[in-house]
Amino acid sequence: MRDDARFAFHDLAPGEESFRDAVWRGLAGPRKAIPCKFLYDERGSELFEQICRLPEYYPTRTEIAILEENADEIAAQMGAHCRIIEFGSGASHKARILLQALDRPAAYVPVDISREHLREAAASLAEDFPDAPVIAVCADYTGPFPLPDLPGPAGKRVGFFPGSSIGNFEPEAAARFLRNYANILGPGGEMLIGVDLKKDPHILDAAYNDRAGITALFNLNLFERINRELDGDLDLDLFEHFAFYSESKGRIEIYIRSLANHQAMIAGRRFRFSAGELIHTEYSYKYSVGEFRELAASAGFRPVDTWIDEGELFSVHYFRLR
Ligand code: AVJ
Repeated sequence: MRDDARFAFHDLAPGEESFRDAVWRGLAGPRKAIPCKFLYDERGSELFEQICRLPEYYPTRTEIAILEENADEIAAQMGAHCRIIEFGSGASHKARILLQALDRPAAYVPVDISREHLREAAASLAEDFPDAPVIAVCADYTGPFPLPDLPGPAGKRVGFFPGSSIGNFEPEAAARFLRNYANILGPGGEMLIGVDLKKDPHILDAAYNDRAGITALFNLNLFERINRELDGDLDLDLFEHFAFYSESKGRIEIYIRSLANHQAMIAGRRFRFSAGELIHTEYSYKYSVGEFRELAASAGFRPVDTWIDEGELFSVHYFRLR
């Protein structure tokens, strides 16, 4: 642990070697795929922030509006002296809305894999909210990890998982993830979670195929990262971004498509790509309110409240553990 003057920083050193192994493994078989968590290096996190400001990408602004409009009601649910544990906190923009509305929060615990972004966000939060102790944890939250001791014995532990990040997981993995979250929160824990809703496929397709091409840059940055970090020689001119909404699966599917038969070296191994071949990089599942409540129930969460915008684009759920 390293302490800045105003915030604590626990570095659980999420492995770098695992990127090489994940890439080798992911590109070895006939159905190539790389876990989407590797999209978020420094550059990827920057590009994702740009995505959030795109006209076609409605989730971020819609969720923020829901949180702002209902902040008092949400803060009342969370109660005084609560400890907020956010997985995948990024720049912590949304947590600010909560911290402004909450009654003397005892701790804000941002958990993220992107180390420098996390450090910057924690420093900036600690400065703007001097009365809310910030305890940053650099970790891969897709698995179990030890939560540091938190101040404030009286308040609730409330998970905060905005941005529909839950949509990245396939339903089975989402249920496992929610059970892991429930274990970390402990008995009596509560959770505020943002979930993108099912809607007109044209709106969904546009959100992942923006006209400015930022989503394409974000996706292809994964291969640039391989070149940067794993001594790769992938030719970015021979790949393109490919994303669409599958109505039958209820998910956006995102791939990098090879445009030619060719090969590349990555960390000393050779990989072959054929023309038209798809390398899977991300899913983004969409849920109706009922579907998501059912999923959460399988992890022990009981619905307390749900807030939705007028256009029915996005949902924010509040759950309590049984
Ligand atoms: C951060 C997973 C919620 O699925 O909408 C946005 C990621 N990928 N555009 C999403 C993403 C391409 C985003 N999540």
